[in-house]
Amino acid sequence: MSTTPLHPSKAADTATFDRVESQVRSYCRSFPRKFGRAENATIFDVDGRAHIDFLAGCSSLNYGHNDPDMRAALVDYITEGGIAHGLDMHTDAKERFLATFEEKILKPRGMDYRLMFTGPTGANAVEAALKLARKVTGRHKTVAFTHGFHGVTMGALASTANSYHRGGASSELAGVDRAPYDGYFGDGIDAADMLAQMLDDPSSGFDKPAAILVEPVQGEGGLNVASAEWMRKLEAIARKHGALLIVDDIQAGCGRTGTFFSFEEMGISPDIVTLAKSLSGMGLPFAMVMIKPEHDIFGPAEHNGTFRGNNHAFVTARVAIEKFWSDDAFQKEVQAKGDHLAARLETIADAHGFSTKGRGMMRGIDAGDGETAGKVCRACFEEGLIIETSGAHDEVVKVLCPLTIPRAQLDAGLDIVERAFAAVCGKGEARDAAE
Ligand SMILES: Cc1ncc(COP(=O)(O)O)c(C=O)c1O
Repeated sequence: MSTTPLHPSKAADTATFDRVESQVRSYCRSFPRKFGRAENATIFDVDGRAHIDFLAGCSSLNYGHNDPDMRAALVDYITEGGIAHGLDMHTDAKERFLATFEEKILKPRGMDYRLMFTGPTGANAVEAALKLARKVTGRHKTVAFTHGFHGVTMGALASTANSYHRGGASSELAGVDRAPYDGYFGDGIDAADMLAQMLDDPSSGFDKPAAILVEPVQGEGGLNVASAEWMRKLEAIARKHGALLIVDDIQAGCGRTGTFFSFEEMGISPDIVTLAKSLSGMGLPFAMVMIKPEHDIFGPAEHNGTFRGNNHAFVTARVAIEKFWSDDAFQKEVQAKGDHLAARLETIADAHGFSTKGRGMMRGIDAGDGETAGKVCRACFEEGLIIETSGAHDEVVKVLCPLTIPRAQLDAGLDIVERAFAAVCGKGEARDAAE
């Protein structure tokens, strides 16, 4: 029998990428198809095959692909000749975003921050936050945590814990002391108490830091969750030692954990907050640093960049906030979906003696090792589900679907995850077939 397919797959033809693009490419290796169109939680390859998206641009698409209202507003803006690039000049698009963020995000939460637009990546926001904390305090060292991920430019990378990414620098990564994250040593050892003790002891060898930089949920680090109590302890440590508390909400923010900010029900008031990924609402490059007014001390253009703020993103980000954050309906929907996700993942994990991790709509299953998790993800992709791993050993199968995913599609995706775990970890034919 001939093995030549009747209709050759355009989506499987990766020859141009293999020939021309750098080796550094990564996600395309896990999902070796060519994609064309996307709508909410569905992404179509160029052969027209639909895939359920449980990766969502690594949480850059919390409101799904191509939200119709954001897209319409952006198309109108472009059609009317709206400014695409304006350096950091005043534009109508920026003013409307600032006013909307103030009105619908800051004021209802009793928050007072100045908004700084950096270059459009998360790493750039983290760089700015760290530089600012150093300038405010006059100190050099900052504290970051085990399994933390903050980007791969040099300053951010110094805060990132992952040795593979750190190795890419081939240079000294200076200025950061590493502390254990909540739960790092297991129950019974409070990692915040350890940090407090080190900072209280003038001979611990730990310099007084300019800042403590923390993710309330570690996205890339394996969905480790910090408790509210632990975060309050960190804030108290920062205050006691004159350091700024920086919350990196780049992955966990914009609704991912069920509230706009992942820390907003923790009773803390960070000095600086970084946002990127889903801030634009539509996957456009856009990053922002929120700064308490008293720390807003960079001189004009002292931290600059050609692409500070993105007018197209100002348009879509404003629509995202107006549409999803004008009342608490979306928040409640995300929280309910997060509970459902948790229950279904528990069932799958229990069936194989694994555990679940995460919070809100940022959850996964710790499959014990990277090989198992990788096999599960590959089995999922065979069935048309895009899902990735995270964690120090890539051992966590991580669900990061759009928050707007319809319940039925969420369940369809989770059915695939369930079958994949059964195929990879169960006994008998299914398992053999997956290997
Ligand atoms: C918490 C966190 N901070 C910073 C970054 C870096 O963002 P970017 O990849 O846009 O530079 C990431 C990226 O995954 C992240 O998860």
